[in-house]
Amino acid sequence: MNKITLIKPDDFHLHLRDGAALASVVGDSARQFARAVIMPNLSPPVVSVAQAMAYRQRILDCLPESSGFKPLMTLYLTDNANRDEVDRVVDNDNVYAFKYYPAGATTNAEAGVTHIEKVFPLLEYMAEKDVPLLVHGEVADTGVDVFDREKVFIENVFSSLVEKISSLRVVFEHITTIDAVQFVEAASERISATITPHHLAFNRNAIFRDGINPHHYCLPILKREEHRQALLEAATSGSPKFFLGTDSAPHATGAKENACGCAGIYNAHAAIEIYASVFDKMNQLGSLEKFASKNGAGFYRLPLNTRKITLRKEAWRIPDKLAFAGSELAPFMAGETCRWKLVHEQ
Ligand code: NCD
Ligand code: ZN
Repeated sequence: MNKITLIKPDDFHLHLRDGAALASVVGDSARQFARAVIMPNLSPPVVSVAQAMAYRQRILDCLPESSGFKPLMTLYLTDNANRDEVDRVVDNDNVYAFKYYPAGATTNAEAGVTHIEKVFPLLEYMAEKDVPLLVHGEVADTGVDVFDREKVFIENVFSSLVEKISSLRVVFEHITTIDAVQFVEAASERISATITPHHLAFNRNAIFRDGINPHHYCLPILKREEHRQALLEAATSGSPKFFLGTDSAPHATGAKENACGCAGIYNAHAAIEIYASVFDKMNQLGSLEKFASKNGAGFYRLPLNTRKITLRKEAWRIPDKLAFAGSELAPFMAGETCRWKLVHEQ
């Protein structure tokens, strides 16, 4: 197969930032994706529907109307979130979910939930109102090995959460381990997961290839090859539980190439092209449309997009750097060859 046409895909996990950073990156996502679930980890975080709607407008203001891009907004769950805000989400057509970050687990997660028990009553109310929870599934305990934080989260938090509040719809975001794949497969149809291009394309060796590479540092951190293989199987399986979420998370080069480099990989410049390359390598291009354009819409109960995109098998070189908020960033796979290219949209 040298060419593939897909229903225009959606990105169910995206960091767009704000201000000049937002203006520099949002066009990349809008080119490839019709809709995107927008992460609320701004500083300060997006905790109310009013803030989410103002943020949504700032996103739309950066795009020409013809883009048709639809931001699906989310709220940042804190210990203090209340039922009124859940009601406001229910009444709002542009805000879709709450995002749960364990406090301190990742970039701008300081305001996250300190103990899951603190928000249990609210999660029960969300389940009653059918508002989904998006989970950063890692424990923030620095005493736990960084490569085990997802597995320990499943054992210590997630298992009892889905048991106690069985009617809550949950997306286990950016899964990285065989443990997460098996957990999601065994759970009810209310539990689904997103998978990033970088966790499909690379294992943890990428962080240490020829020296330390901060541009491959993200959270959850890249894992062993056996975990990557499990993610590839899940993404290409056709199961409606697994869908596309890039976790594209831009940081300026200076914040990455730093004595204390930030977690986050920018992949929005070529996300669908990298997913296509990965699926092609697996001889599974036929299941790309389900993963990229259908499964997530099904979970979020959104109509399928009417626009289409076409990708062609054509090698091209990913640029070494991109302009970013008056500075620059290093995009994922900078300087490497991508085997598929987005050629047009109908
Ligand atoms: C994200 C960011 O930079 O906002 N970083 C990351 O490594 N993925 C936060 C997150 O999703 O964990
Ligand atoms: Zn993220």
